[in-house]
Amino acid sequence: MKVGIYEAPETVSCQQREIPTLHEGEALIRVSYAGICGTDMMIYSGKHPRAKAPLILGHEFAGTIESIQDKASTFKAGERVVIEPLITCGTCKPCQRGDQHVCSSLRYIGIDRDGGFAEFVTVPTGRLRRVPDEISDQEAAMIEPLAVAIHTVKKSSIQVGDTVAILGAGPIGLLIGLIAQQAGASAIYISDMSAYRLQVAQSMGFQAVHAGEADIVEVVKQETNGEGADVVFEVAGSQITANQMIDAIKTQGEMVVVSVYKTAPTIDLAKMHFRELSIRTTRCFSEDDFVKAIRMLKHKQVNVMPLISHVLSLDHIEDAFNHMNNPNSSLKVLVHP
Ligand SMILES: NC(=O)c1ccc[n+]([C@@H]2O[C@H](COP(=O)([O-])OP(=O)(O)OC[C@H]3O[C@@H](n4cnc5c(N)ncnc54)[C@H](O)[C@@H]3O)[C@@H](O)[C@H]2O)c1
Ligand SMILES: [Zn+2]
Ligand SMILES: [Zn+2]
Repeated sequence: MKVGIYEAPETVSCQQREIPTLHEGEALIRVSYAGICGTDMMIYSGKHPRAKAPLILGHEFAGTIESIQDKASTFKAGERVVIEPLITCGTCKPCQRGDQHVCSSLRYIGIDRDGGFAEFVTVPTGRLRRVPDEISDQEAAMIEPLAVAIHTVKKSSIQVGDTVAILGAGPIGLLIGLIAQQAGASAIYISDMSAYRLQVAQSMGFQAVHAGEADIVEVVKQETNGEGADVVFEVAGSQITANQMIDAIKTQGEMVVVSVYKTAPTIDLAKMHFRELSIRTTRCFSEDDFVKAIRMLKHKQVNVMPLISHVLSLDHIEDAFNHMNNPNSSLKVLVHP
């Protein structure tokens, strides 16, 4: 079978491998589409703390069950599925509380074991979720990042009618915008440097702010009589936006940090104290968020298709990673075997 291998920092390639052997409690998935994510780019840059080459990347993927070896499972060969890629220990305190997404030894399919940039991949049957007919194969590959956005917005203090600021119009920032719309935001301001991404943002009904031409803090203040946004999502991962979130939020507001910072930013706690600000951070998603992502797509509540900028075959995995490295002309890049 064909696979997309992370060989070494800055090197991915398409290679041939044996189809993996199925073990008890696993299903063999024929992958339809797999998305490339910021985390894959972090692995690609060689900066990820856990992922080690050689590795088949890909944790945002869907497909069809080719075969299954688990008598207790209700899944059958031929069913369309999406993979919930978290691997949790089940015994630590967060797992016992039902918060598996912050498991103290959280692992990921596609980061800690081979993932979905392949014609076939084996996954534990407990990680399978059914894909309803109403959801296309490409949409199904967007369920994982959509679950991140649902988790983030649910964790925020958003109320119907709120003004929202989103710093960063990457796939995660835009998906958060779509869910914030569903949660009743009256206006959503989103900043980025990529004109391409801002154009997509505008088409989704958000107020696009070019970070090179205007200061989102000023824009939001002007629109809110100097008060600031009710909710700010930091999704750009930079020191500049970490500073902006504090200035853009209303007094007593809560900022939501979604970014995984390559370099830890400094945060001005003194500035926060005088206006009683709080920060919330979010990680991954719960099982409930994942199920809700499937449901929202099934009922056509969100349209994720405008986020897909490129679809390439596995043979062109190198090109796919190059596209991802250029936010001026790409958003979500899908590969299909
Ligand atoms: N919390 C989680 O579980 C979770 C899950 C997925 C991704 N993430 C993180 O969320 C962040 C966003 O993910 P993504 O896939 O959308 O990444 P991305 O890199 O595609 O998007 C970030 C965007 O921020 C923009 N940006 C950079 N500097 C800016 C500035 N000064 N002002 C405005 N915009 C600026 C970039 O142009 C880019 O479009 C990343 O840090 C990622 O690691 C977190
Ligand atoms: Zn991801
Ligand atoms: Zn655990």
